[in-house]
Amino acid sequence: MQEFAPPLTFSTLVTALRSAGCVFAEDEAELLLSAAADPAGLASLLERRVSGLPLEHVLGWAEFCGLRIAVDPGVFVPRRRTEFLVQQAAALAPGRAVVVDLCCGSGALGRALASSLREVELHAADVEPAAVRCARRNVGGLGTVYEGDLFEPLPPSLRGRVDVLLANVPYVPTDDVELLPAEARVHEPRVALDGGGDGLDVMRRVVAEAADWLAPGGSLLVETSERQAARARETVGSTGLAARVVVSEELYATVVVGTRPR
Ligand SMILES: C[S@@+](CC[C@H](N)C(=O)[O-])C[C@H]1O[C@@H](n2cnc3c(N)ncnc32)[C@H](O)[C@@H]1O
Repeated sequence: MQEFAPPLTFSTLVTALRSAGCVFAEDEAELLLSAAADPAGLASLLERRVSGLPLEHVLGWAEFCGLRIAVDPGVFVPRRRTEFLVQQAAALAPGRAVVVDLCCGSGALGRALASSLREVELHAADVEPAAVRCARRNVGGLGTVYEGDLFEPLPPSLRGRVDVLLANVPYVPTDDVELLPAEARVHEPRVALDGGGDGLDVMRRVVAEAADWLAPGGSLLVETSERQAARARETVGSTGLAARVVVSEELYATVVVGTRPR
């Protein structure tokens, strides 16, 4: 690992970050400066960042929907584009909503949606123990986080009662995982990225059970890519949910919404 001797100036930070390929070097330098407790701590943060660790793992948090979400090493970093899924969910949620955040990772989606609703019963789940620990910190007293495969750890009493089912599942096709930037490929767990041959394997498993868990009028929201959108919509629609695709050009985000008829 490249070493830096303290004290470091702002311009040294920017130069080092830029040489390491950080596009927003000035912004990152400000964040590292504000996160460091002392000059030695700053050097250590910089060393970790230029070694290729995602900025959010270096800082220990990511900004998501205006919130600071804790992100531990080995936990998927919530992406800004996924804020669009949360916005769509907020528009669909009733005044008192039962929300499930499946494949919750850090718990960012459920936490952000719960923070925007008046009354919420929030349940979140993930298969990765590190993600579950992280989500428990982020969700805090706003809900309950379970560990296990998709719906399996959820209380059976939720069946037929879920108003909003958030599912930002892994959706990168297996062959494309190797093409991801190193920050994702090396520092995020494969189970958080790899969606199988066409990227839709986990989504298909969610969709197969979603209608059983949704309340009448309740909606499933899954993020996908522009390329996968038509097939993802077809999959969601195949189980009797009314499926539509919504797109944000600004956030470069594509979401499939499937609503259970009343
Ligand atoms: C793309 S990440 C999304 C995390 C979070 N929803 C977000 O947007 O920040 C996918 C998450 O799905 C979890 N996951 C993958 N397969 C799973 C399964 N079969 N059951 C539960 N969680 C799973 C991974 O551990 C990972 O945290």
